Amino acid sequence: MTGLVAAVIVAAGRGERAGGGVPKQYREIAGEPMIRATLRAFLDHARIDLVQPVINRADEAIYRAAIAGLKNPSPPVQGGATRQASVRCGLEALASRKPELVLIHDAARPFLTSALIDRAIAAAKATGAAVPGIAVADTVKQIDGAAIVTETLDRSRLRIVQTPQAFRFDLIFRAHQRAAAVGLESFTDDAALVEWAGQRVSVFEGERGNVKVTTNDDFARAEMTHIAALADIRTGNGFDVHAFADGDHIMLGGVRIAHSRGVTGHSDADVALHALVDAILGALAEGDIGSHFPPSDPQWKGASSDRFLAFACERVRQRRGMIAHLDVTVVCEAPKISPHRDAMRKRIAEIAAISIDRVGLKATTSEKLGFTGRGEGIVAMATATVRLPWTGLQDTRHGR
Ligand code: CTP
Ligand code: MG
Repeated sequence: MTGLVAAVIVAAGRGERAGGGVPKQYREIAGEPMIRATLRAFLDHARIDLVQPVINRADEAIYRAAIAGLKNPSPPVQGGATRQASVRCGLEALASRKPELVLIHDAARPFLTSALIDRAIAAAKATGAAVPGIAVADTVKQIDGAAIVTETLDRSRLRIVQTPQAFRFDLIFRAHQRAAAVGLESFTDDAALVEWAGQRVSVFEGERGNVKVTTNDDFARAEMTHIAALADIRTGNGFDVHAFADGDHIMLGGVRIAHSRGVTGHSDADVALHALVDAILGALAEGDIGSHFPPSDPQWKGASSDRFLAFACERVRQRRGMIAHLDVTVVCEAPKISPHRDAMRKRIAEIAAISIDRVGLKATTSEKLGFTGRGEGIVAMATATVRLPWTGLQDTRHGR
């Protein structure tokens, strides 16, 4: 039988060096609160059985908002005045579950990969206490109080240490309890407690990307790194037509517009949203609105088109991408669109969960020419710009 593997995520700090209105772990990177990305990495990992967040008592409400919809983190416990105290609170909360191993990780390191978690678990199983470390590229010198070099250290024997640090639960819990009992509260990482307790700590390979977000500059750099990785930039177009019929309003861009006519067609016949859905699906090369929501299926009769757009946007997020821009052109003689332009942009932005400055909406008549000119129907054309993670050049070279 293999024992439980738990993770303690410490997030009770105040983030003073980063500044900003809220503690840094609740600030967003690429549209997601940092703590949420960190928790997700552990909650999504098949070998982690329990995830125990440790938060500051002042942050309960902001924590709940940040994790809404995440599956199954344990209820958070309150941390202490130091990182060491916060870790101890997390370990105490786990003790009754008797985990075999525990990984202790900073909420402020959201970029770790699942491979790093695998290595941490393997190393803790093998040695009982293990930390991720990376080699030092620069020469490191020791100096005295007057900034005079006293020694050039042998960098081949130096490692920069990160989290998750991984331990047999009993070993680290006992070390924390003993340190607290003698009033030692100044250890800056958990391995140092094990070293103080006289036990061996091994080092496994860390990750250069697993940085601790500490300053405001770190946020800017993290954001740029994320955007730069979404280098597979795609443009999709969509087109839709519906005929006018009897009625007193049309739905356009998710907004109800009073009119002397209505429209017939699929669902609520919102041509702007339908064209946008096709534009996004086109950018993803994932079929069209009809292949996902067949007009022959009675459940879509009269349905609000919001859900089709929300679905297409969710497909982008599932592929770990982002919608960079949406743009629509509506063609009709009437109703007049411009009075409703901003309401439609606002509604589209809401459904797509992007900011309103990423939604364009124009309208034109067709100078009384053709079916739109005769007032028989309404047309929308849309363009979606979607950014997906870059998956390698061979995709484009070989036309795969
Ligand atoms: N931490 C904690 N309890 C504390 C102090 C820190 O749980 N009393 C957590 C932080 O929330 C963070 C991790 O320990 O996830 C690493 O600490 P650090 O990067 O120093 O974060 P802060 O202490 O919040 O930042 P600062 O030192 O700039 O105030
Ligand atoms: Mg700190």
